[in-house]
Amino acid sequence: SLPKTYSDPVRIAVIGGTGISHLEHEGFTAVASLDIDTPYGKPSSPITILQTAAGAPIAFLSRHGLHHELTPTEVPNRANIAALRSIGVRSVIAFSAVGSLQEKIKPRDFVIPSQIIDRTKGIRDFTFFEKGVVGHVGFADPFDATLSRVVERVASNGVLEGTDVKLHSDKLLICMEGPQFSTRAESNLYRLWGGDVINMSALPESKLAREAELAYCMICMSTDYDCWKVGEEAVTVETVMGNMHANGANAKRLVAAVLQELVKEEHQDLVNAKHVEGSSKFACCTA
Ligand code: ADE
Repeated sequence: SLPKTYSDPVRIAVIGGTGISHLEHEGFTAVASLDIDTPYGKPSSPITILQTAAGAPIAFLSRHGLHHELTPTEVPNRANIAALRSIGVRSVIAFSAVGSLQEKIKPRDFVIPSQIIDRTKGIRDFTFFEKGVVGHVGFADPFDATLSRVVERVASNGVLEGTDVKLHSDKLLICMEGPQFSTRAESNLYRLWGGDVINMSALPESKLAREAELAYCMICMSTDYDCWKVGEEAVTVETVMGNMHANGANAKRLVAAVLQELVKEEHQDLVNAKHVEGSSKFACCTA
């Protein structure tokens, strides 16, 4: 079993979603498994510290637990973000399976969102600011543009070459509550709003990351056409899982290539950033 401690700060983290529950076998070696407690409870899973061949550390957290036992509503988002922050993380690459609301975004394509519409129901713990700790953060641009550009560059530089999957950038993500999927009327409404993809996991994760001054971007993989598309079977868990498994290797390869790029010297200002624009000062779990 792995050591339970790791002494150096770890600046980059991956939050794995459905289909990405570990990153070993992608050129990374697990060197520690941290069982962290926070003022908000325990995170979804132990945090695995992985090292690249060159020795740069990466933190990995499985959003839905090690055995996919947490629904999107049950994910302990505050504990997850506070735990990452407490080991020194400054940049987060989050992964998520999404439904496609647009014909041109085919199942198994990748999507980098730049905007979100919040359709969660206010039943998740969505802020660190409460009980006398008053703060407000800007969220006009919910995803870190610099990190997103790095992902796009890596994707267009050969990682997806030889596959028939595309990467779509600058897209509008609808984040809904679940666990039920949308009605056809809702799916059509989201299309009228200009929605490109839909998931259940971007919020409040990205809001809490902003409050905690972490640079955060999301890599989404399309798994279905939700239920708006005439002549197409409405989304089922089997469709989501089937496409996730069929394309999981590409998803892991893309995430791994992004990490190999981010650990390069030229990105150290980005991944070590002390203050993310638009965010507040975060006093709670510092490292
Ligand atoms: N995750 C994957 N597909 C989805 C869909 N159609 N709606 C919401 N979340 C999803």
